[in-house]
Amino acid sequence: MQTATATVTAAHPEVASPFLLSVNNIEVIYNHVILVLKGVSLDVPEGRIVALLGANGAGKSTTLKAISNLLSSERGNVTKGSIEFRGERIEALSPDALVKRGVIQVMEGRHCFGHLTVEENLLTGAYTRRAGRGEIAASLEKVYHYFPRLKERRQSQAGYTSGGEQQMVAVGRALMACPQMILLDEPSMGLAPQIVEEIFEIVRELNQKERVSFLLAEQNTSIALRYADYGYILENGRVVMDGEAAALASNEDVKEFYLGLGGEGRKSFREVKHYRRRKRWLA
Ligand SMILES: Nc1ncnc2c1ncn2[C@@H]1O[C@H](COP(=O)(O)OP(=O)(O)OP(=O)(O)O)[C@@H](O)[C@H]1O
Ligand SMILES: [Mg+2]
Repeated sequence: MQTATATVTAAHPEVASPFLLSVNNIEVIYNHVILVLKGVSLDVPEGRIVALLGANGAGKSTTLKAISNLLSSERGNVTKGSIEFRGERIEALSPDALVKRGVIQVMEGRHCFGHLTVEENLLTGAYTRRAGRGEIAASLEKVYHYFPRLKERRQSQAGYTSGGEQQMVAVGRALMACPQMILLDEPSMGLAPQIVEEIFEIVRELNQKERVSFLLAEQNTSIALRYADYGYILENGRVVMDGEAAALASNEDVKEFYLGLGGEGRKSFREVKHYRRRKRWLA
């Protein structure tokens, strides 16, 4: 019997969960009244990069925080649905327990400790591990291998490094926890295109060489679809379309509304008056 990788199990539908992460029909409410996610489902197969796309306020960050159990600090609750990692329900786990299981979130906006050095920031990422000095030193070397810029800046105060370097610190710190899956929120935010490219290249390398799976929230549809295997498009708290990244990138509607190739700038699928289109995505 072969191991249950996504490709193998795809041919054996009787296997319970072929996915590393499965989000099933979740609803999220903030402050007991504000309904933000209205039945979101998505899957991440092991070893893949999945993009969660959508405009401002679509619910991308909320979805990631629902998975990593970071909603309670914002008075948010998952009120319906279920979330499974390796076939086990994870909604009741604390963020720390989840990190120990291998799921870690890199928050939107980077969140470095500005007064600590780059290296001290990275070391904070190992706090959930009961690793010895040697193991931690090896993890640090691994981070520096993927992010050579951070090695150069290891003694710099993080607050004085560039936005791109701070994003690298945020991802590097997550790597220090030896994750199987990283939930990466808006890595491109506020960064120059060249740095964004550099960061996505590293994401790809981590995916291919370290077998880290990614769920990647991005407003930058174009770059996300170039690096992801699969994508989901969120609008107003619902998934309105999903598909292989290449298929999404060549889809006329995605091009028009999310890749800015339609000539009229980005619109919402909802704004499209054409009945057939409304029916196609929103029925
Ligand atoms: N703590 C909160 N309390 C109340 N409403 C919230 C809270 N956080 C987010 N929201 C609302 O939930 C909706 C989804 O927000 P979310 O941050 O998940 O969107 P997003 O897709 O990540 O957007 P962006 O691309 O701007 O980061 C928005 O309407 C937002 O105003
Ligand atoms: Mg967000």
